[in-house]
Amino acid sequence: MAYSLMLSKFVHATLILMNWSVYANEGNSHLRGHLKPLGSHTLGKGVTAVGKFSSPSVFFSEFVSQRQPIWMRNALDYINHVGLTNWTDEYIKAKFGHESVNVEVSKKENRQQRSKTLTMRQFIYLYKEEDMYLVHSLRNSMEDLVLVPPSLACGGFQKTIQDAVMWLGSGTTMSVLHYDMLDNLLCLFDGEKNLVLIDEIYKEDVEADGFVQDQSYSLVDVEHVDMTKFPRLGNISWKRVRMRKGDCVYIPKGWYHQVTSSTDRHLAINYWFSHLYWFNETDCPSENSAPTKHLYPIREIGFASSNEVLRSKLLDKLHDKGIMTRQNFISSLDSSNEERKEKFFNAVDKYKDSALSWSELYSFDIDKAVLYFPDIFDLPGGADSPPDNLVLFDPIVYAHGVDFKDDERGEEDENHSEKKSLKDTALPDESLAFKEKLDTTQSFASTEDSNIEERIDENDKSQYSSEAGKEKQESEDKEWNHDHKPMNVKKDEL
Ligand SMILES: *[C@@H]1O[C@H](CO)[C@@H](O)[C@H](O)[C@H]1NC(C)=O
Ligand SMILES: *[C@@H]1O[C@H](CO)[C@@H](O)[C@H](O)[C@H]1NC(C)=O
Ligand SMILES: *[C@@H]1O[C@H](CO)[C@@H](O)[C@H](O)[C@H]1NC(C)=O
Ligand SMILES: *[C@@H]1O[C@H](CO)[C@@H](O)[C@H](O)[C@H]1NC(C)=O
Repeated sequence: MAYSLMLSKFVHATLILMNWSVYANEGNSHLRGHLKPLGSHTLGKGVTAVGKFSSPSVFFSEFVSQRQPIWMRNALDYINHVGLTNWTDEYIKAKFGHESVNVEVSKKENRQQRSKTLTMRQFIYLYKEEDMYLVHSLRNSMEDLVLVPPSLACGGFQKTIQDAVMWLGSGTTMSVLHYDMLDNLLCLFDGEKNLVLIDEIYKEDVEADGFVQDQSYSLVDVEHVDMTKFPRLGNISWKRVRMRKGDCVYIPKGWYHQVTSSTDRHLAINYWFSHLYWFNETDCPSENSAPTKHLYPIREIGFASSNEVLRSKLLDKLHDKGIMTRQNFISSLDSSNEERKEKFFNAVDKYKDSALSWSELYSFDIDKAVLYFPDIFDLPGGADSPPDNLVLFDPIVYAHGVDFKDDERGEEDENHSEKKSLKDTALPDESLAFKEKLDTTQSFASTEDSNIEERIDENDKSQYSSEAGKEKQESEDKEWNHDHKPMNVKKDEL
């Protein structure tokens, strides 16, 4: 899905960009940052930095659920990621040379321009000389390069990964200022990237002028911001990250970002994952689950299925609506008719307490749900009445007294449910706890209100960035702000 979204930007052939091209305008020289690179109107702020992959539980509670970016410096070095040393052009060519890959034909992103298809071999032969940039999903034929980052290894994250995209280029490449509908973990295996990150709270300012709503990007020329055409960009505070080889950065869903890559060769892989609203503790090795050095291939767990993607879209609609009572659930969805929404609610309300908990919402049988209630997931169909006592859980539920008439369960399920029953008995309480927490908008987030830096130091004093790290960051601030304009830009490439 992320991939098709991403590709859709290439297929618009009309031109708009020209209208926004910039003319030097001396009368506006008093506007800070006028005709300068994006972010020049004010100093960028730093983001929280740690010295390795954040553990899944801290990553969830302090960053994902708070929708705050985190910079995991040297995370790939720390786990001796094979990609740092082995993913050379020679290796990629030898292993995937015959693959057809998607190539942008301009280093400066232009969403009106078509991309083209080359073989990997052709691309590697050409890319250092020609104006091109590989942007290609690894999902179908290059899955061997997808190793699940430790921060996404458990807690439910492992079921949310929708795609992994490779970005390979040389010299300066620049993206437009845009946001994505999915959470994003960007990891850099070679080269450098400068990131401009803008909190989604600045939505009105970013989207006030020249914003293409259906493709979620701004028409602003990121190299020469015309402050007379985009005056409200002058009001925005932003964060900067200067990524180096070995670093990963979490870019929260909805945050605007602009990426400039530089140095000779740069290779990144980014992991798109659905936003996770609830962290399943029992799914992780131990409570304070330390990040492990083990990287497992995505093949072992698979990418999120299309039905799991539908589950996450449903949760996106429900997450900020308060206690999920029957009535609230019904009014939160525009799709379908009330009777069917009520039937669906009853089938998901495993513990019959007239409210849906995250554990219920994350564990109902999504394949069965999509089959019987396509309309709830905005799919066509749904005229047929589902069986009256349809239950969307494994057979163990029936031990809690729910009448079960559907005989779809096979023998395999029986042994499975035996194993699950002990854990499941603990869930009803969870459902109540969930309700108590629900009356604030942040109720799905961690209840911890401890200071992030402290919390991180506790977890691993030596690895997370210290005072010394801060100083380094400040000197980098200066470096960035002087040196913010793209390096090695050959004008004729742009
Ligand atoms: C990485 O490359 C080295 C040197 O060529 C090789 O010995 C090693 O087996 C490779 N590692 C993996 C995991 O492929
Ligand atoms: C910038 O913000 C200030 C205070 O919020 C507001 O008064 C001003 O109109 C804003 N400027 C623009 C160009 O939106
Ligand atoms: C939480 O994780 C455990 C262990 O993987 C799993 O059995 C259980 O179904 C999960 N719970 C939910 C609600 O997803
Ligand atoms: C269930 O477990 C029993 C005993 O352990 C075993 O004999 C049987 O083959 C299992 N059934 C399935 C479907 O795995």
